[in-house]
Amino acid sequence: MSVILPPNLLSDVPRTPAGLLSNREKDRLIERAFLGLYRWYTARSQETRNWNADLSFDWKSMRQDLPAEIVTALTGFFAVEQYAPDYTSELVNLVRRSHGRSHFQLRWGSEEEKHADSWENAVLFSRQRSPQWIAEYKERLRSQQWHLPFPDAIHNLVYTVFQERATQLNYLNLMKLCMGQSDKVKNAIDPVLAKVAQTIAVDEAAHYNFFLEGARLYLYYYPQRTLEAVKNVIGQFSMPASNLVPNWDEFSETVYRAGIYGPRDFNRDVMQVAFRNLGIESRKKLEEGIKATREVPDFDGNGTIQTAIWDTFDYGAIEGDVKRLHVKIQDYEKGVGFDAVDPFEFVTNPEVPKKTQAADD
Ligand SMILES: [Fe+2]
Ligand SMILES: [Fe+2]
Repeated sequence: MSVILPPNLLSDVPRTPAGLLSNREKDRLIERAFLGLYRWYTARSQETRNWNADLSFDWKSMRQDLPAEIVTALTGFFAVEQYAPDYTSELVNLVRRSHGRSHFQLRWGSEEEKHADSWENAVLFSRQRSPQWIAEYKERLRSQQWHLPFPDAIHNLVYTVFQERATQLNYLNLMKLCMGQSDKVKNAIDPVLAKVAQTIAVDEAAHYNFFLEGARLYLYYYPQRTLEAVKNVIGQFSMPASNLVPNWDEFSETVYRAGIYGPRDFNRDVMQVAFRNLGIESRKKLEEGIKATREVPDFDGNGTIQTAIWDTFDYGAIEGDVKRLHVKIQDYEKGVGFDAVDPFEFVTNPEVPKKTQAADD
């Protein structure tokens, strides 16, 4: 309706119905939570995951006769992580107005950089690729530039949730092979490599959790936009840089045969896990829910509440998760003393159907 009013009347039109949070207020709440989460994350990262790609592993003891499949997997991991500077710069630029998110991306980039260097060391110390081969391969990789898979921040945030979980799964499954817990590749045991894979997988789990918490914040305050993003992301998900790495098909086929990663792993151990963590029952339920919301008339975005969206996911569980995140950040900030100067509070989204609160009490 607002678009047909003359400009001098626009300021008289309430943009947000009374009692609801304006987008500006929602953005402020999300930003404050991201800032707290980023500070908490950094402290934890420095305290518990402050490892070094060269010094934390006994590279001299790595096996020199690993099966070819393992070396192909290592080379692929090295290639994907090689784009860490592109991932970081693109994402930092996308969220540069957000202190919490952009500073987090710098910290995240510094962790991804360690992954790139560790996998490069692993390829080098396998003795199955010469330093010259690695240098040329790296030059070829870096001659191409990675770009964001989506134009907006919510889609890229949601994409990263799935991507981090998928990456973690790849490394955990390689670790299992190197520990002798999977027989998909014979003679793959190597304790050094198992430790490398495990160490990096722990970082990826931390990344997954950060982006998951961020996606939950958006889901809680902007359910419609976030669920649409989830639907779009899973509809066209592929691993980062899969279109840039020259021998991707060989890598993809090898990790599939080695039981490291394939479509079934994505469905069961990535999509379903992330769905559960986002309170989404299934892909079918998500698609049906979004379709239902489109059938509800929306009066030019003038604040009509899209009731159908709340049936698409478990909003009670998400509200509980968002509250728990707030408590975690409050505890952290209390330890620093921020609570006395800039207290951090949870603010309920009034659009959330009331029965949730009743059920929570
Ligand atoms: Fe990584
Ligand atoms: Fe990561």
